[in-house]
Amino acid sequence: MKLNIGYALCGSFCTHDKALKYMRILKDKGHNIIPILSFNSAGIDTRFGTAAQLKEQISLITDNPIIETIEDAEPIGPKQMCDIIIISPCTGNTLGKLSAGITDTPVTMAVKSHLRINRPVVIALCTNDALGASAQNIGKLINTKNVFFVPMHQDDPHRKPHSLVANFDLLEDTMLSALEKAQFQPVF
Ligand SMILES: Cc1cc2nc3c(=O)[nH]c(=O)nc-3n(C[C@H](O)[C@H](O)[C@H](O)COP(=O)(O)O)c2cc1C
Repeated sequence: MKLNIGYALCGSFCTHDKALKYMRILKDKGHNIIPILSFNSAGIDTRFGTAAQLKEQISLITDNPIIETIEDAEPIGPKQMCDIIIISPCTGNTLGKLSAGITDTPVTMAVKSHLRINRPVVIALCTNDALGASAQNIGKLINTKNVFFVPMHQDDPHRKPHSLVANFDLLEDTMLSALEKAQFQPVF
């Protein structure tokens, strides 16, 4: 089964390498990858790399143009462009916006447009405040139709007691379950 996968990256810059690795794995399995960048992941240079390098790496994996504006993300639902959207990585910021129904980035626009046609969204959350300010948003979205989470764990419970990171190795399994409208388990 060849899928059209919307693959969205948010500004968890330290996990972009992992996200790109799994983007490539999905591409190598024959899926069509439609890359989507949040404004911040498309525009901010950090110690983990520049925005230009990120875009170059994405372009080496997929031939599709990168969606990096709200207007380019808007047709995703109406034109049925994606079978599934994976947000990998998803920040606490984007999670909060999705939970609150805020649509002001290409990623939140893509998700809103895609949910409009009742198709699944997979979230690979990586955030230091997952068990802090973001906990309520996990609670809300885990109970939201067509939204599924990649299993996650505490990456450094003693030094970062509120932090959770997605287990990227389970991204594909989570995607396959989500296509059947089921949450891959165990999620924690
Ligand atoms: C170097 C660096 C690393 C960051 N890592 C994370 C992270 O892992 N998780 C997270 O939720 N936010 C992280 N942030 C903060 C987000 O980039 C910030 O909240 C931003 O507004 C996210 O925008 P977006 O969700 O639209 O991509 C990081 C910021 C910087 C500068």
